[in-house]
Amino acid sequence: MVSINEKRLISHINALGAIGIDREGKRTRLAADDAEKAGRDAVVGWMKEAGLRVAIDCIGNIFGIWEEEDNQREAAVMTGSHIDTVINAGQYDGCYGVLAGIEVIQSLKEAGYKTCRPMVVVAFTNEEGVRYSPDMMGSLVYAGGMAPEEALGVTGIDGTILGKELKRIGYAGTEKPGFIKPYSFVELHIEQGPILEAEGYGIGAVENLQGISWQKITIEGVQNHAGTTPTSYRIDAGVAAAKVVTFMRERCLQSKGKTVSTTGCMEFQPNAINVIPSRAIFTVDVRNPDEESLQAEEQALADYLKELEQTDKVKIHTERLSRFKPVLFDEGIVKMIEKHAKNHSLSSRRITSGAGQDAQNMAALCPTAMIFAPSARGISHNPKEFTSNKDLTACAKVFMDVMAELAGVREGEET
Ligand code: GLV
Ligand code: MN
Ligand code: MN
Repeated sequence: MVSINEKRLISHINALGAIGIDREGKRTRLAADDAEKAGRDAVVGWMKEAGLRVAIDCIGNIFGIWEEEDNQREAAVMTGSHIDTVINAGQYDGCYGVLAGIEVIQSLKEAGYKTCRPMVVVAFTNEEGVRYSPDMMGSLVYAGGMAPEEALGVTGIDGTILGKELKRIGYAGTEKPGFIKPYSFVELHIEQGPILEAEGYGIGAVENLQGISWQKITIEGVQNHAGTTPTSYRIDAGVAAAKVVTFMRERCLQSKGKTVSTTGCMEFQPNAINVIPSRAIFTVDVRNPDEESLQAEEQALADYLKELEQTDKVKIHTERLSRFKPVLFDEGIVKMIEKHAKNHSLSSRRITSGAGQDAQNMAALCPTAMIFAPSARGISHNPKEFTSNKDLTACAKVFMDVMAELAGVREGEET
């Protein structure tokens, strides 16, 4: 069986990683912004170099398609991930999966193999959800979980409309959601957490993914003088917001590591050193692998917000930004990943994805699973995110064998 071209994969990862770096050296490619357009253009170029037919759907997902006359009526073996990033990001999150997907197909084609099923690699739009909510939006629309018109009409954190931005950058396509019928979906990704490295495993067979709940919370207080207002007279939106953050940390501690909660955005108004905040606007990202427990966390937060309205005399408004249930991946594909890892003498471990992934939406359409490569020190959503070339290529080889088995590579047909 042919292997991947390791050098080409690494050079594509580094080349895409160099796109969208600003003057301060920070890498940011938010969905459908100018830097992400440049990343998309590079990916489309590599898909074409690999001899793939490129198609764009109405939410801007980019598909690289390898099909032949004798297999085009079969459901496709699909893979993919995303190339949008968070702010000041690393270069592996998402990009590794898209580029390894192109690499697998290109290597098979170059070696003259044929497959029983078409193979398709996708770069999904707006996986990170930093600019537009919800996250994993491109795959959600593709899987029928959100209407395209609704997604295209979403207003971003910078006031832009996603549909208009996709048109502006030339990636408002015409293909309908679900236009390629998937037989299976396998996403290769970096772990983004510390487990594989800490426990000495070479690869992760991802068997499930935790649920994710995103809310925007607005607390209304009363703007007043920082020096003259006695504490007992204050209706302080900032203090109430801080209490919510510490309340959620307490919930996480009580859950013994099952729940994680993050407030990654917080804004005070009028945002002045000597003025009691009239308004605090912040986000809460809560996750748990168990749906009932996640619902319990959401309820506890809602109850606490009601309590705060009484104790702190503030008014609170919440807006749901995103909600995904936990997902169980396909046992057959997970076992296939373990088998091919063993064939490559890579020690594997079953693992839960703590991050949201496009695969979780594709799981609604077809048997789906993920492969994780170890992340150095578990750092991600950070420019220090790192996976060694050795780990990247070792896991990509396992990924290739899984994809080839699913696609039904016809042995003995290499030229
Ligand atoms: C995506 O990276 C997420 O898990 O937030
Ligand atoms: Mn990702
Ligand atoms: Mn990410």
